[in-house]
Amino acid sequence: MSQSYETVLLDRRGRVAVITINRPEKRNALNIQTRAEGAAILDELRADDSVRVVIITGAGDKAFIAGADIAEFADRTAISQREIMLERGLFNAVDTFPKPIIAMVNGYCLGGGCEVALACDIRVASETASFGQPEINLGIIPGGGGTQRLPRLVGEGKAMEMILTGEILDAQTAFNLGLVNHVVPADQLEIKTMEIANRIAEKSPIALRLAKEAIKLASRSNLDEGLRREVDLFALCFSSADKDEGVTAFLEKRKPEFKGK
Ligand code: COA
Repeated sequence: MSQSYETVLLDRRGRVAVITINRPEKRNALNIQTRAEGAAILDELRADDSVRVVIITGAGDKAFIAGADIAEFADRTAISQREIMLERGLFNAVDTFPKPIIAMVNGYCLGGGCEVALACDIRVASETASFGQPEINLGIIPGGGGTQRLPRLVGEGKAMEMILTGEILDAQTAFNLGLVNHVVPADQLEIKTMEIANRIAEKSPIALRLAKEAIKLASRSNLDEGLRREVDLFALCFSSADKDEGVTAFLEKRKPEFKGK
């Protein structure tokens, strides 16, 4: 059974769960409560076998997430800020989430919001979305993984420019950089994102999990280690009933029905 949350909403649509960051009056800025609730909801969905794919989005039509709640920075000391950031937070919960997780970017995707999107596996943006790491304008730097994940996704030079200038990019520019997978008209955003999510949700949850693990290794290990681990994870698929089902269904010319076993 779902716990109740105040700043995030959870909507289950068959095998797909949609998490909505729900502080539209603050452009869905992430305060301590939102980050804790977001992480808790992901823990809940991690353990729920009926959920195979998760989508994260923001409430309203203006923002995905406009970053960390800047008001909370006002009285923080270096020590208190560090302690908060070292707790297992939302960025880590997204990054380590074992099921596919898609950012459905419906507006401002800035600072910590861009970092949440970067920690997701796939990013789908509305034409009205915008992207940036504007922390430099506050005299600080990205602290939710932006300095590490952004260069891995778009290359060091482009990441340098975004982070050092704090420039906000429109969705098409973000697409051209490889920051987002798709850009669609605002009224198509949910349709496109659900289409991708439902397509993934039909696959073997075990194979999806192992594929994610292998792909994430690509930017976190050297090539030899990554290739070695890929072989192990590939072989691990052979212990699943889903592998038998997938191969049998192909040979019998029918659609497979994966059970996640
Ligand atoms: N933290 C705290 N509050 C935020 C916020 C954030 N990151 N982003 C927006 N808000 C609040 C505003 O303070 C305002 O609150 P108020 O109505 O109580 O005054 C409300 O959300 C609406 O913001 P507003 O600026 O009026 O909306 P807008 O649509 O004109 O502009 C943004 C939206 C996102 C461009 C603008 O709010 C902004 O630049 N936000 C900060 C982005 C940022 O620097 N993020 C990185 C943080 S490390």
